[in-house]
Amino acid sequence: MSSSSLVPPESLPSSLVLVGCGKMGGAMLEGWLRMGLSGERVTIVDPNAAHHLVAVCEQHGIALNPSPELIRPPEVLVLGIKPQMLDEASPTLAPLVGPETLVLSILAGKTIADLKARVPSIRSAVRAMPNLPASVLRGVTGVAPSPEVSARQREVAETLLSGVGRVEWLDGEHLIDAVTAVSGSGPAYVFYLTECLARAGAALGLPADLADRLARATVEGAGELLHRSDLPPGALRENVTSPGGTTAAALNVLMRENGLDPLMREAVAAAHRRAGELSG
Ligand SMILES: NC(=O)c1ccc[n+]([C@@H]2O[C@H](COP(=O)([O-])OP(=O)(O)OC[C@H]3O[C@@H](n4cnc5c(N)ncnc54)[C@H](OP(=O)(O)O)[C@@H]3O)[C@@H](O)[C@H]2O)c1
Repeated sequence: MSSSSLVPPESLPSSLVLVGCGKMGGAMLEGWLRMGLSGERVTIVDPNAAHHLVAVCEQHGIALNPSPELIRPPEVLVLGIKPQMLDEASPTLAPLVGPETLVLSILAGKTIADLKARVPSIRSAVRAMPNLPASVLRGVTGVAPSPEVSARQREVAETLLSGVGRVEWLDGEHLIDAVTAVSGSGPAYVFYLTECLARAGAALGLPADLADRLARATVEGAGELLHRSDLPPGALRENVTSPGGTTAAALNVLMRENGLDPLMREAVAAAHRRAGELSG
């Protein structure tokens, strides 16, 4: 599911508390407001709220940092803090979790078991791994639910996460590290590909700034084509590769036995290993 347009009001939560509204929390908030979530249903806890966030809250009637005793356990509690802040924030979170509260966590490296160990009142939880393009509402989020998550809670979680892009449900939380290695870290791989393409252009004699612009526009355009097309990337590639032509000459290098494919596998495997090491 992917959307940031208005959604049926019944698939939105009746109440939502967001703890930690930085880059990712702020992007999600923007997505929720765009899809029609009323600001009156939202409470934000972020002690040093930026000026922009204060203005958004005033504009939409969002409660920002009310006294803790005034916050009732919501239908959905979204955790948008940094993973290393979890221990410090846990005492604040405990009173926000009622028996019916769904906890939606985007904390990298923190398992559902980690959350339940720190806040024992948590029953239903979903662990989500969004990626950086969520900041332009074009992210992709891998999501794993705890066994207690109801059909209603799954629908609400999917709706909320679809506010910043595509949502992909996982068969188990163990797959989150693989999602992290592919789509979580993936935007940086594409940025690096763009840098390499620009450097290769400069090596052919193009002015460096022109090579940068050509490489950048190429990746932007190719990404947009992927976005708009239903064809798999391999078909899009074949469509622009004439036998014996220039593209084929380059692909013969990239696709040789020790070319990009094994290199990418090695890189993604390294990210996967590191995600496992950082968990806990
Ligand atoms: N950014 C990404 O691309 C990305 C991708 C996948 C997952 N994530 C996950 O998303 C989460 C947030 O990342 P981010 O990049 O949005 O970080 P961020 O910009 O630093 O946002 C975290 C926010 O939480 C606030 N905060 C700190 N302690 C708090 C507390 N005790 N109670 C309430 N708010 C508190 C921070 O305020 P101060 O700035 O004043 O400390 C900040 O506004 C992380 O867990 C990360 O693993 C991010």
